[in-house]
Amino acid sequence: MEEQIEQLRSWIESNRNSGAKAVLDHFCSFLRTNLETYNWVGIYVVSGDKLKLFSYDGEPTEHNEIKIGDGLCSLAIIRNETVNESNVKENTEYLACFPTTESELVVPITFNGKAVGEIDVDSDTKAAFTMRDEQAMSRLAEDLSEIVAGLAE
Ligand code: SME
Repeated sequence: MEEQIEQLRSWIESNRNSGAKAVLDHFCSFLRTNLETYNWVGIYVVSGDKLKLFSYDGEPTEHNEIKIGDGLCSLAIIRNETVNESNVKENTEYLACFPTTESELVVPITFNGKAVGEIDVDSDTKAAFTMRDEQAMSRLAEDLSEIVAGLAE
């Protein structure tokens, strides 16, 4: 996993001026394609009192917009900390997107300490995400910080 993450980090460094859409679309599809348990990967951006889905790879979701207050995606923003749920079916805060999802990792993207967006990963495997995933996604969230801050409203 570390090797793929480093590969993605250098890709971001070399392509950060190619436009937010190109960078974030590649980001999502790279992770989903290269990491086996990453079945859906999305970037939500803070827009007023909502989270808007800016890029994703995987099945389309009806949750293109989420009111801040709903779901695990909101928890990560409100607390400004990572949410790693090993069994979504037991979490009453969980907002269901796909019937196959078993676990979810949501990592805030911050700029000057403020949450401006997040990386959201859904897995069809129970307890798919470990501390290594949390750390890897946090490093990537730092790399995306400026790009996503430019999109937040
Ligand atoms: N499950 C999320 C909603 C977004 S979907 O996973 C794409 C939540 O609980 O906020």
